[in-house]
Amino acid sequence: MTQTHTIRRPDDWHLHLRDGDMLRAVLPHTSRHFARAIIMPNLVPPVVTAADARAYRDRILAAVPKGDDFTPLMTLYLTEDTDPADVAAAHAEGLITAVKLYPAGATTNSASGVADFTKVAKVLDKMAQIGLPLCTHGEVTDASVDIFDREEVFIDRVLDPIRRQHPDLRVIMEHITTSNAVDYVRANDKNLGATITTHHLVINRNHILAGGIKPHYYCLPVAKREEHRLALRAAATSGDARFFLGTDSAPHTDENKLLPCGCAGCFTAPNTMAILAEVFEQDGALEQLEAFTSLNGPAFYGLPPNGETLTLVRETPQFPAHIDTPDGPVTVFDPAMPLHWTA
Ligand code: NCD
Ligand code: ZN
Repeated sequence: MTQTHTIRRPDDWHLHLRDGDMLRAVLPHTSRHFARAIIMPNLVPPVVTAADARAYRDRILAAVPKGDDFTPLMTLYLTEDTDPADVAAAHAEGLITAVKLYPAGATTNSASGVADFTKVAKVLDKMAQIGLPLCTHGEVTDASVDIFDREEVFIDRVLDPIRRQHPDLRVIMEHITTSNAVDYVRANDKNLGATITTHHLVINRNHILAGGIKPHYYCLPVAKREEHRLALRAAATSGDARFFLGTDSAPHTDENKLLPCGCAGCFTAPNTMAILAEVFEQDGALEQLEAFTSLNGPAFYGLPPNGETLTLVRETPQFPAHIDTPDGPVTVFDPAMPLHWTA
């Protein structure tokens, strides 16, 4: 049996680093393995202007541990007041890599997101023109739509109309959770990609709800039925260049996860590579791991793959059940299966 597996150094195309003490506590778990990450802008208040992004980027760079080589790829949080000229200037100076669309109220810290999509048409036109991608949180927020259907309905009601109106806009469907999203990506080969998280390859909705409620498996978009998890696994392990890793590692303190109204998010940065190696090996697709974690993402974003490599070793990985932060402990995602690769 092969004892090591070497891939190009991976990138994370969807990551929450937070700020302040939490940023300093969680960033080393990403920069240890990942060379670059698309940084989510849903701080409180959100990262909406070029000036916000510059200041946040500098705080992230100041928190990178000595000896680690890590580049944050910044995003702006799209609001109905976003100025197309500010976005274009930030892109021109190389400050931002994408713009993030949160439907208002869809998830953690999304109150300033978009409610009326006609109000962002000018920004989207400008982005299409300059080749700046749009990252989408693909869930409608209409209370009459069942939470397990919100991604499917978003594709029909919001995403497809936006793509028809702006055919040159490059769009990333982020953290997809359904076979509907996989099918939509497969049916559209122009200007469309999708990220898949580590945890959505491992858990289905039973993990959250059967045998007692498991707040640490609650994230948004919420995990769906097993058939959807299997569709995601088939997409991730297929080598299809439109699918790539975005961990959506989203740390919340245990205190905030375990409330009567607990926060959404799984913290997967410490063990993502170990879990992915397991998943890909289980599916007989270890050879496709590199495409998913290290090649497809850069290709979509028009960036070179990383020059360095990461070697996985066939050894039981060690990672803590939680990490300590000045704000309190943060539980590390439990894959609920034995792992055999250490990154
Ligand atoms: C994210 C967070 O905590 O910021 N939570 C999550 O469940 N994924 C927000 C998001 O990406 O939806
Ligand atoms: Zn996220």
